[in-house]
Amino acid sequence: MEPPDFDLAGQVALVTGAGRGIGRDIALTLAACGAHVLAGVRDRDAADRFADDPGPGHVELLLLDVRDVEGTRAAVDAAVSRLGHIDILVNNAGLGANHDALAVTEADWDEMMAVNLRGLFFTTQAVARHMVERGYGRIVNIGSQAGLVGIRRHAVYSASKGGVHALTRVLALEWSASGVTVNAIAPTWIYTPGTAERLDDPAFLADVLSRIPLGRVGTTADVAAAVVYLASRAAGLVTGAVLPLDGGWTAQ
Ligand SMILES: NC(=O)c1ccc[n+]([C@@H]2O[C@H](COP(=O)([O-])OP(=O)(O)OC[C@H]3O[C@@H](n4cnc5c(N)ncnc54)[C@H](OP(=O)(O)O)[C@@H]3O)[C@@H](O)[C@H]2O)c1
Repeated sequence: MEPPDFDLAGQVALVTGAGRGIGRDIALTLAACGAHVLAGVRDRDAADRFADDPGPGHVELLLLDVRDVEGTRAAVDAAVSRLGHIDILVNNAGLGANHDALAVTEADWDEMMAVNLRGLFFTTQAVARHMVERGYGRIVNIGSQAGLVGIRRHAVYSASKGGVHALTRVLALEWSASGVTVNAIAPTWIYTPGTAERLDDPAFLADVLSRIPLGRVGTTADVAAAVVYLASRAAGLVTGAVLPLDGGWTAQ
C-alpha cells in the first residue's frame, strides 16, 4: 500500500496574512513540505520576519491587502502568469476583536467584515477562477470555533466566521466537479501576537482552559498541521468540511 501523499513539491501555495502569527507558520510549514509559497503580506517589513527562519522550502513575499479586491485580483493574475498555477490557497488574513454587542458601531462591523468575510470571498474568487479552469485546487479557510458556538462579546467576529463556514460549504459544492476542494479549520484560542495580550492574563487563560477538555490552548503548529492535510492530495475526498481544532471545546 502506498503511504498517503503529503508531498507538496512543485505546488504553489498562496497564504494570506502570512506576516505573523498563524499565517507565518502556515507559510513556513507548507514550504517545509516542498511548496513554493507566496506569503501574502501588507508590508515589505514583514520580510524581516522570514529572514531568520526561512525553512527548507521557498517563501516569496507577495504584497496583498485583501480589502483591495482589484489589487488582489491583479496580484493573483500576475503570480499565475509568472508561475503557471496556484494549487493551494490558505485564507488566513483576519481581524479579531471583542465587543459588547450593544457597543458595536457600524465602523466596527464594516472593518471586520471587510477582511474576514468580504476579503476572503473575493480573494477566493480571484484564485479559484484559475483553479477551476485548470481542474485542480485546494482551498483552506481559517474559520473559528466562534463560528460554531456562541461566545460572549464575539458578535461581529462570530458572524464573520460563521459566514466563512457557510461560504466553505457553498463553494465546495460549486467547484466539486472541477477538482477544487474547499474546507475550513475552526481553531480554539491559539497563542499568537494577536492573542498574547489576552492569553497572558492568568484569569482570562484559566477561564479559557476550563472550557477546553484537552487542557491547553493551541499553537500555530497545530493549525499548520491541519492545513497541510487539507492542502494535500491525500485529502482528495474531503470538501465542504469545517474541522474543529479546539481541544474538544465544541464537543461539549
Ligand atoms: N489566534 C487565535 O486564537 C485564533 C483562533 C481562531 C481563529 N483565528 C484566525 O486565524 C487567523 C490568523 O490569526 P492570528 O491570531 O495569527 O492573527 P494575527 O496575529 O492578528 O495576524 C493576522 C494577520 O492577518 C493580516 N491582515 C490583517 N488585515 C489584513 C488585510 N486587510 N489584508 C491582508 N492581511 C491582513 C495581518 O497583517 P499585518 O501584520 O499587516 O497586520 C496579520 O499578518 C485569523 O483569520 C483569525 O481570525 C485565530
